[in-house]
Amino acid sequence: MTVRHFLRDDDLTPSEQKQVLELGLAFREDRHVRQPLSGPRAVAFITDKPTLRTQVSFATGIAELGGFPLMVDGNLAQIGVRESIADTTHVLDRMVSAIVWRTFGDDRIQEMAAASRVPVVNALTDGFHPCQILADLLTVAQHRGGVTALPGQAFAYVGDCANNMAHSYLLGGATAGLHVRVAGPQGYLPDAAIVARARAIAEETGGSVTVTDDPVEAVTGADAVATDTWVSMGAEAQAAERSRPFVPFQLDAGLLAHARADAIVLHCLPAYRGKEITADVIDGPQSVVFDEAENRLHAQKALLTWLLEQR
Ligand code: NVA
Repeated sequence: MTVRHFLRDDDLTPSEQKQVLELGLAFREDRHVRQPLSGPRAVAFITDKPTLRTQVSFATGIAELGGFPLMVDGNLAQIGVRESIADTTHVLDRMVSAIVWRTFGDDRIQEMAAASRVPVVNALTDGFHPCQILADLLTVAQHRGGVTALPGQAFAYVGDCANNMAHSYLLGGATAGLHVRVAGPQGYLPDAAIVARARAIAEETGGSVTVTDDPVEAVTGADAVATDTWVSMGAEAQAAERSRPFVPFQLDAGLLAHARADAIVLHCLPAYRGKEITADVIDGPQSVVFDEAENRLHAQKALLTWLLEQR
């Protein structure tokens, strides 16, 4: 059987995503319900960008699965600089059971997956953040009646729609059958190919995809509302030019008031209060951002377990 990777959200079919999310809820109930890495088997976690939640949730999760988290600093490994991506991968896959990588270009992780005999997991690239979206879907399921209640819910995202989070919400949300609505300023709207792919998935799942430059249109009647930083890792040099166009998309109490009264608020963190979200909203009663952070652990354990079982 060919090895399965998770580089972008649509690498899981709708029924496979559902299996992973159900397993994620099982891990929420009992953190040691399955231990596919006992031995221990090692999983490499490599990061070329800053990380807190991602490295802690993967390290903790791999340990709870009975395995050994091998934490590799990408600045020391210099993958693709000291050694080709393919050669690095051939070394790693002799020793570890899976490779988790946070890096820049999606071409880098695609190259690794093409060379790897073990599952490769995207822990954030410039293009996608699919593990975060699994955690977000788990959070909606947790607060809104379980995994089977996901299809048909309205999920709004406001802010930078050209970034990894927006692209992953489009693909992963459509896979879950959500009505995904994203709103951002002109010039920061999603990649057309990703929108087309998300629409094709939504046709299959009964979801839908709306792309707009009107934040109120996106948020009105939503069950869940999310945002993300206006300056993603790697885009720091554009911080000044990016501050102004996003101002109308700030998630504040006025914008949130257009959502359902019981809508939940998500943010992948780190959050910049007073920029993409106001303090009263992220610290307010509708915010579930720390459940969302915890769900990284459960979702990623479920994903690793599922990927290892496909071999
Ligand atoms: N879009 C953000 C997500 C951080 C978790 C970034 O790439 O920096």
